[in-house]
Amino acid sequence: MAKMIIEGRAKISGEISIGGAKNSILPILACTLLTDRTVRIKNCPKISDVFNMLNILKTLGGNYYFEGDSLYVNTASADTYVMPPDLSRELRSSIFMLGSILARFGKACCVYPGGCEIGNRPIGLHLSGLQMLNVSVNEEEGSIICNGEDMRGTAIHLDYPSVGATENLMMAASGAKGKTIITNAAREPEIEDLQAFLRKLGYNVNGAGTSTIEIDGRLNINIPDVVEHKIISDRIVAGTMLCAAAICGSSLNVKDIEPAHMSSTLSKLREAGCTLDIGRSDVHITAPDRLREIRMIETLPHPGFPTDMQPMLFALCTVADGTSIIVENVFENRFKHAPEFTKMGAVITQRDRTAIIRGVKHLRGTHVTARDLRGGAALVIAGLAAWGYTTVDNIDFIDRGYERIENMLNSIGANITRIN
Ligand code: EPZ
Repeated sequence: MAKMIIEGRAKISGEISIGGAKNSILPILACTLLTDRTVRIKNCPKISDVFNMLNILKTLGGNYYFEGDSLYVNTASADTYVMPPDLSRELRSSIFMLGSILARFGKACCVYPGGCEIGNRPIGLHLSGLQMLNVSVNEEEGSIICNGEDMRGTAIHLDYPSVGATENLMMAASGAKGKTIITNAAREPEIEDLQAFLRKLGYNVNGAGTSTIEIDGRLNINIPDVVEHKIISDRIVAGTMLCAAAICGSSLNVKDIEPAHMSSTLSKLREAGCTLDIGRSDVHITAPDRLREIRMIETLPHPGFPTDMQPMLFALCTVADGTSIIVENVFENRFKHAPEFTKMGAVITQRDRTAIIRGVKHLRGTHVTARDLRGGAALVIAGLAAWGYTTVDNIDFIDRGYERIENMLNSIGANITRIN
């Protein structure tokens, strides 16, 4: 697997623009099955998860191409409801294609996506919600076979505000007869982006961003031959760049973002002693030479502190003043970066979903391994601040969610070399 060599004690400066959100483009690509029109997607991040999702759409009979700054997708020729097993396992979050395939074809067949590095990733909320929409769900030898030829709108209450289950059910309900109300829905900004896209396709979806989402038939609008949509900015990539500046005691302007999507992250950076000038679509950060103590971080569904930012804030805590407590409430196995930070000299005590971190003066560059997407990104920014050189292995994980993270960081003062 590829690796990166990072020169430590970097000084970050200048300005960086942030691209489209991975966790928005993926459900929206699934949603292209709900129209025969061509979709022009702007601000699409060129990351491996996107190419995997596009391969799945192609396997289903859809077509796509990149031209200029846009991705064009047309699934009018899609002709199968059977998801390719190998590609579906490669991209476990493709499970939320179930809803769009059911809305398109009335049937769907996929393999159990299985767990991943950060947890078991069960899908019971997805399947029980589909059954409430009158979808029959049969599980045979690792495959899930759904029949939703007579989907009917209903009231669905999610036991947990699952992002993927909310997205799956929004898309499935768009193909159902009658009104669906999803309560205890996820409130992430990516859900709002999916709703905006569904409305452009003519589906009457309202309430995204709140805990109650209503899907009720069609809108009385003319749908253009080419439906255009710009993906919202990636709040996690933006947070990662801000954390890079914070851990290096530097200043940086992060632009083309939506600060309102990042309130909890910005609040923690302020708690760490960073000065933030927040504009309409940018944030300028000035970090102190030594970060102040961040006493407690608890990951929660949006608008709580995002689990996807936990590894990067963990990195900051390893070199901040005082002692920090991080509680990971969302995924059961999302501290795999802790032993790697320990190799760099961090002082960490971990009990199940709680990590206690006593800040040290500085980390030492050494050889570490990325164990998942965001943990890998956190190791890279820790390497920027460490004394000496840090080698990060398994960086294919990082490429799933960052478009050449080394180029992004080198453009603002880092010295990182990728070795394939
Ligand atoms: C989405 O995953 C994101 N992925 C994740 O981003 C993100 O961490 C997560 O939401 C939480 O914000 C995409 O959007 C592609 P969940 P998802 O369903 O939908 C449990 C990244 O790094 N659960 O909200 O899978 C589940 O086990 C990735 O970009 C059930 O118990 O997240 C977990 O503990 C990582 N049963 C919790 O809910 C279910 O049926 C949150 O999962 C579904 C979920």
